[in-house]
Amino acid sequence: MYTATAIAHPNIAFIKYWGNRDETLRIPANGSISMNLGALRTRTTVTFSTDIGEDSLSLNGRRIRGAALQRVSALLDKVRDMADLLMAASVESSNNFPIGAGIASSASAFAALALAASAAAGLHLDEVALSRLARTGSGSACRSVPGGFVEWEVGNSDADSYARSLAPAEHWDLHDCIAVVNAGHKPTGSSEGHTLAASSPLQAARVADAPRRLSLCRTAILEQDISLLAEVAEQDCNLMHAVMMTSSPPLFYWEPATLAVIHAVRRWREEGSAVFYTIDAGPNVHVLCPASEVAALSEKLRRIHGVRRVLHSAPGGPARLVAPAAEKTV
Ligand code: PMV
Repeated sequence: MYTATAIAHPNIAFIKYWGNRDETLRIPANGSISMNLGALRTRTTVTFSTDIGEDSLSLNGRRIRGAALQRVSALLDKVRDMADLLMAASVESSNNFPIGAGIASSASAFAALALAASAAAGLHLDEVALSRLARTGSGSACRSVPGGFVEWEVGNSDADSYARSLAPAEHWDLHDCIAVVNAGHKPTGSSEGHTLAASSPLQAARVADAPRRLSLCRTAILEQDISLLAEVAEQDCNLMHAVMMTSSPPLFYWEPATLAVIHAVRRWREEGSAVFYTIDAGPNVHVLCPASEVAALSEKLRRIHGVRRVLHSAPGGPARLVAPAAEKTV
């Protein structure tokens, strides 16, 4: 029996990944930049054993079959190939945050799976190899392998499309207050969404302008310039959602409370607060701010009609191996 447990954090993208150049390998249409969320985590234990007949997956104690299990098995197949291993595996995973609601659960899920599965199989993959492996499960998962503030460079092939850290978590005490307006599973997952991106007439313009936004975002992070980050991250988020709303068929992830939070954040910024919003493929709004503003901001977000709860996180470290243990929910 070969077993290992890993923890990985989800990440929030300031420059978004939306659309693939190669769907199978998940080579993205454009580069992206994100921050890991240290308070949120996926803990995954992978056990390969000759006693196991077929791969199995449990998520927060519930047995999962179908497409989700197939996606996990596809990554396990890659690990089995690399390690020359013939055994099936059991995968037990738990999250301390809501799944499938625009809090990038697939990112932390596949980063933790790549690390736990490769370690259980006796492989010692370096960060680049792990990031590439995680990418094949879910694109944004490659950004949850390195720590802190992370950039995924597009690359041209499987070999050179991976993420690396721009700065460690300790570099900047930037906080994410996540206004949860709906914690249910989203109707259209991001894998399906990526395939629709090219059907929007706006996607080509979004992709063509990505190098400019990436450069501004890199500078903003390295210089801890929240005003510059606010400007470029909000524009990038709006561009991605414009593409979503204009693809065929269109994708509308926002709910009334999503827009209410957007307006409130813009108003608070006009009043002098250093805050900005960004939204992934779901209705929840990530509101970024300096550590000193977290308490007041969370309170104000909670008072907005339709906001059910506010999760909060500082920047997080890389995916890492740990001893197996029970997960606590935040
Ligand atoms: O990794 P995926 O296929 O779940 O795609 C993530 C897409 C967004 O979260 C909307 C943007 C991003 O860069 O994280």
